[in-house]
Amino acid sequence: MDAPRLAIVVVAAGSGTRLGHETPKAFVELHGRTILEHALHGVFGATHAAQVIVVAPAPLVAQARTIAERAAGAASGYVTVVAGGDTRQASVAAGLRALADGVDAVLVHDAARALAPSALIDRVASAVLAGGEAGVIPALPVVDTVKRVDGDAVVGAVDRSDLVHVQTPQGFPRTELLAAYAGATDDHTDDAALYAGAGHRVVTVPGEPRAFKITTPWDLSRAARLLDAGSGIRTGVGIDVHRYDDTVPLWLGGVYFADEPGLAGHSDGDAVIHAMCDALLSAAGLGDIGSRFGSAAPEFAGAASEVFLRETLALVEGAGYRVGNVAVQVIAARPRLAPRRMEIEAHLGELVGAPVSVAATTSDGLGFAGDGSGLVAIATALVTR
Ligand code: CTP
Ligand code: MG
Repeated sequence: MDAPRLAIVVVAAGSGTRLGHETPKAFVELHGRTILEHALHGVFGATHAAQVIVVAPAPLVAQARTIAERAAGAASGYVTVVAGGDTRQASVAAGLRALADGVDAVLVHDAARALAPSALIDRVASAVLAGGEAGVIPALPVVDTVKRVDGDAVVGAVDRSDLVHVQTPQGFPRTELLAAYAGATDDHTDDAALYAGAGHRVVTVPGEPRAFKITTPWDLSRAARLLDAGSGIRTGVGIDVHRYDDTVPLWLGGVYFADEPGLAGHSDGDAVIHAMCDALLSAAGLGDIGSRFGSAAPEFAGAASEVFLRETLALVEGAGYRVGNVAVQVIAARPRLAPRRMEIEAHLGELVGAPVSVAATTSDGLGFAGDGSGLVAIATALVTR
């Protein structure tokens, strides 16, 4: 492995008193994974290669190693796991003792910031790797009005314009950070305070709302809700193929084409709409057009395919999904779709109530779509909960 210039110390050795679980906080489950694994996903998603040092409670070092290696995947050679101490500062110090040779920039990150995005880690890492002795911390403006109180009495207003909330990861040049830690006498709540206490400059980069720290049960529930929203997006795919039949009219994408051979098949053979239905059903996890509507069902013989589309949309909505968009690609030697593409897109978009894009290509003369014996439509759909 090439020796990385960067190390990321992920502190996960706290007990999580305020969260109130028996399990230490970083090992509490959030949406099917531990908080630590979520945090490490952000870390291993960063573009900068880094030695990743996980600081775990002593009894959970082996479990932390399993979690870290799973999160690292092919990058498991970059992982070091050590036991932490009684305070956050002691845990960071334990992590710093494991720094590999060749590392000259160090990020310190809270495992409790489970949803901190990789982009934030890259932002801090880039600023520190650019050189200089300043520490780099992510910050967000304070948006609420701030008051000074004495008991429950408001005794003054505080100008919030020069106040920020700070987050992790916080980045520092290695030599200066190690010296600051070696000389620290007080306990600090973050590394920037310790670093500034040693006389160094600290600068901010923009923070990320998703990098909030999970401290209370409310925070854990909020993180779960954000993850729910993300996984409420689903995609689906559908393909339909029909043979040409010049005894029937051509309906494609819900519009009529004069003077073109039609498509054989149950209903009107509109392969574009059939592929869209399959993609929508697939996205919503509802099976496919054949199993839903039965290709032999007499009530659908010769039916306009728009009937299937309406029924499909009702099923998708009934399952709690809203359609984001649908895209269709037609592969055929004929008809020429380009002149009517906009019309088809507008018509289908109105039926679906979401954007529908339609594209067409030939298959360069190859196969049944090339020799004019049949037509293929491929559709994808995106739905959200
Ligand atoms: N941390 C640590 N070692 C400690 C204390 C804290 O590694 N002795 C880590 C936590 O695991 C967490 C981060 O520092 O990722 C921020 O600390 P905090 O949110 O305060 O976590 P806890 O100390 O675990 O929670 P609490 O203060 O509610 O007990
Ligand atoms: Mg704490």
